[in-house]
Amino acid sequence: MTLSPQVVNLVYLIAATLFVFGLKGLTHPRTAVRGNLLGALGMLLAVVVTLLHKDIVTYKYIVAGFVVGGVIGAVLAMKIAMTAMPQLVAVFNGFGGGASTLVAGAALIETQMTPGIPPSLQMTVSTVASGLIGAVTFWGSMIAFGKLQGLVTERPVRYKGEQVVKIVLLLISLYLGYLIVQDPYQTTNYWILVAVSSVLGVLLVIPIGGADMPVVIALLNSYSGLAAAATGFVLNNNVLIISGSLVGASGVILTNIMCKAMNRSLANVLFGGFGEVQESAAADDIYEGKVKATSPEEVAMLLDGARRVVIVPGYGMAVAQAQHAVRDLFHLLESRGVEVEFAIHPVAGRMPGHMNVLLAEADIPYDKLKEMDEINPTFPQTDVVIVLGANDVVNPLAKTDPNSPIAGMPILEVDKAKTVVVIKRSLSPGFAGIPNPLFAADNTLMLFGDAKKMVQELIAAIKEM
Ligand code: TAP
Repeated sequence: MTLSPQVVNLVYLIAATLFVFGLKGLTHPRTAVRGNLLGALGMLLAVVVTLLHKDIVTYKYIVAGFVVGGVIGAVLAMKIAMTAMPQLVAVFNGFGGGASTLVAGAALIETQMTPGIPPSLQMTVSTVASGLIGAVTFWGSMIAFGKLQGLVTERPVRYKGEQVVKIVLLLISLYLGYLIVQDPYQTTNYWILVAVSSVLGVLLVIPIGGADMPVVIALLNSYSGLAAAATGFVLNNNVLIISGSLVGASGVILTNIMCKAMNRSLANVLFGGFGEVQESAAADDIYEGKVKATSPEEVAMLLDGARRVVIVPGYGMAVAQAQHAVRDLFHLLESRGVEVEFAIHPVAGRMPGHMNVLLAEADIPYDKLKEMDEINPTFPQTDVVIVLGANDVVNPLAKTDPNSPIAGMPILEVDKAKTVVVIKRSLSPGFAGIPNPLFAADNTLMLFGDAKKMVQELIAAIKEM
């Protein structure tokens, strides 16, 4: 069956509209599931109509790809630990970029079969763009994955003249691109371009500290969209151009939001070597003799007299998978007439929306999740703040130490509450690698232990009272 181009483009338009409404839905937790479904429906329409578009010689390989890819994807999605989500996203972005490179390369090879009809300028230029951006995305994402998975050193790998090396590689890639546009029949140039761009991808990500990988992943996500859009021009496929552009644009917006929430510029993330040198105050000076440890029983007594409690979740809650225990604590406190809210910092955890996703998974009502600007003014009227596996996002050094790597990052001002209970296993630093004076503050008590275990013990202690 062959569909007319008009019908195909009409369905593509419907699919693109569904993508846009899907993205709109994703802007709020309440509509996110519907948004996701709309996007998936758009993609289904686009895939089906593409398969019916041309006379496909054999569906054998397409079905095989569907089955193999589908099974791997489903198993990964079900098995992946929530804490490993950033590296999974990195792999997905990388494969997107890799696929664009291969499809553009295949399209270039296809042109050799019709030597009488030379490929258009649009086709050759977009093939070059697809090969370059796709290869950078693939290898950059693989390095990001390796850093987060501990397979590649997390430390920024710096060397003399690194910017010059990268610029030279980019210029070589562009020159090869020029040669391809001049003579598209020399396909070897394309694969050399892919090889050079691959080295560039590795060198672009390797000097960035593991700590900044989530931002890099958002940026690579945007690159994978651009590579897909370029492939859309190679294939003259409108829906690929539109969906690639949407991914490209949303990736840039997300990157910008993350940089803002950390008070860092994108240039600082890409070239700053964050996590390399930290000349902040020494931990011993800050903590010595000032840290007060507490017990679940003591915290239970504090909570018994509290009217308003705010829970600040952080990366440690994700590591401990404590969200379900937190939900039980939330219900228990509410049943005793305590007002409980959650303070969500935009970069708490290791990926955008990390805390929202975990708390939603545990069925905590969305209206209890308050963003930083909304909840900060309420801390002075809060009796107890429970900081659960969070560290940097509540570190007052962001405001007081201009040399700190988190200087200027907006924080949750929990130190203004009457009492702060910090649940974590030790005095170890968080992601930024710096001590936290909050742990030594007069109104702070440290409940040392695993987040899930401590919350469970806290619940037991409250019930025993
Ligand atoms: P962090 O500052 O990274 O602190 C997490 C704390 O959790 C650690 O100090 C650790 O202390 C504790 N922890 C680990 N496992 C635990 C467990 N099983 N039970 C209890 N505590 C545990 O986390 P945060 O406050 O959420 O801040 C996030 C950081 O990541 C920020 O610096 C942010 O800029 C950065 N970042 C975030 C993102 C996004 S998009 N979210 C992207 C890039 C960077 P112990 O070892 O003592 O337990």
